[in-house]
Amino acid sequence: MTTIYVLIHMHTPQIIRTNNFGTDAAAFITRALQETGKSCPVVCLPSGMTPLPVYKAMREADCKIDLHYVALDEYIGLEATDERLFSNWLAREILDPLNIPKTQRTIFHSMHDDTEAECTRMKAFLKENPLDIAVIGIGVNGHIGFNEPPSNPTDSIRIVSLCPITRQNNAAYWDGGRVPKQAFTLGLKEILSAKTIILMATGASKADIIRKTFDNPVSETCPASFLQEHPNVILIGDTGALSQLS
Ligand code: PGA
Repeated sequence: MTTIYVLIHMHTPQIIRTNNFGTDAAAFITRALQETGKSCPVVCLPSGMTPLPVYKAMREADCKIDLHYVALDEYIGLEATDERLFSNWLAREILDPLNIPKTQRTIFHSMHDDTEAECTRMKAFLKENPLDIAVIGIGVNGHIGFNEPPSNPTDSIRIVSLCPITRQNNAAYWDGGRVPKQAFTLGLKEILSAKTIILMATGASKADIIRKTFDNPVSETCPASFLQEHPNVILIGDTGALSQLS
């Protein structure tokens, strides 16, 4: 019994409940970056609604941080100037305001005519420059990045077909237009190899999947549940998202 408890304890995420999500999560990310001890840690950052107040807080705090940004995921088939590209979205929200040079941004090229070569290039980059910190969000279906269910920790960087629920949830950004069906994503393999993982979740709509992620047995049907097997996960959420956690 004691042994089992210790094993579970080692893999229990640090859970931060916050009423001031934006500023608290921003402070946590900033501290985690500093604690790497590196002048330019390698970091993936999420897009979506969840991180908006976090990036706002980081902009307003005028954070003096440096990092090498690696794309977590990206739609396939959009022009490089398309404002809906995650790389452009993140540039506007956080990378440009923090003055992260373009040379410190490793992104997927959405319109590349050889999408497999894009995956190979990203794998090679991360092999040489492993993630120090993976900052991620979570989909209501348990995806992290675009690792849609079923996904498992052997899945590497690849092209994925987006689930109907993901396309439906992302439609808000598309102003009635068609959400792409395919995307690039880092695999669970690369995300779970980060030394520190910071998962951000807000709102009651995420309560059920956060419970499944941390309280249910690990399963391919909830890709985020593999976070239970990582030794250094920080979950930062508001009371809505964490309301069903035991
Ligand atoms: P959201 O997206 O922050 O807009 O909820 C998260 C995700 O789908 O990964």
